[in-house]
Amino acid sequence: MMTRRVLACWVFCLFQCCQPVSSNICNNESEYSKFSKCCSKCPPGSYTRIECTAEKDTDCSPCDSGRFQSEWNTLDHCQLHKTCSGEFLIEKHGTSTSDTICQCPSGKHCVNKDCEICEDNEVCKLGYGVVYKEAGEEFMIPACEKCELGYFSNISSDLEPCRKWSDCGSLQMLEYGAATKDVKCGTPEPSSKVGLVTVIVLLSALLAIIILSFFINYGHNQDNRNKIRNAISRLLKKRIKVQTPIQELVMTENGRILTTAGDEDKSPEDGTQLLTV
Ligand SMILES: *[C@@H]1O[C@H](CO)[C@@H](O)[C@H](O)[C@H]1NC(C)=O
Repeated sequence: MMTRRVLACWVFCLFQCCQPVSSNICNNESEYSKFSKCCSKCPPGSYTRIECTAEKDTDCSPCDSGRFQSEWNTLDHCQLHKTCSGEFLIEKHGTSTSDTICQCPSGKHCVNKDCEICEDNEVCKLGYGVVYKEAGEEFMIPACEKCELGYFSNISSDLEPCRKWSDCGSLQMLEYGAATKDVKCGTPEPSSKVGLVTVIVLLSALLAIIILSFFINYGHNQDNRNKIRNAISRLLKKRIKVQTPIQELVMTENGRILTTAGDEDKSPEDGTQLLTV
């Protein structure tokens, strides 16, 4: 029985009839006392269109666009959103329950919570980064602070915080970091240079071998061939016995066919003249 009565009371409370007319105990936030009764205030986002009377409760109306009301109220209008003019920029557009929030342009900051004036940020020198420090309730201003170990700032800036040193991962740390510079990552330079030089040397050697072997095998002039062979053998400091192939015939300019030394014991054919090279 008791619970049913409590429930009924709550239901009545919703319609603001629960409390005795003579009592002035109203909900401070959402009601006010008038005509020896509790009249409703208007909730955030609305204003009082018609005040409450002895017979009727308050008549509320939502805020028009461009206006707001952030609290329970008894006002007959909603406030205008502020405009972010001049150098101010909009940080957050206003709603029916909140005002517009303005901010200062990049590199500047508000001097107070209401952001009435913008002030230039301090420019932090190398090794220092921008940090935002509490300067009041829900109000921060930028300041310069020395980079902690593991962080760096290699630029002079009024915006940039200290940045974390790079993580070299699979690479090697070649140079330790500092407050003013990042760590240097990479593969050790000497070994990479040696590798590059080796590749270049091998490639040039291969190219030389290809070119020389071309001359040796396709050269039409015996003298040149031998010169090349001798040059190679001198180059390699190895004594290569240059053997002239047997029965190798070479046509000279005047149409005669020459044979090499190995052909001495062979008889001439078709009347060609034999010469010893
Ligand atoms: C700052 O450090 C970063 C990361 O190592 C590098 O890319 C950049 O070039 C540096 N800037 C200057 C101005 O030294």
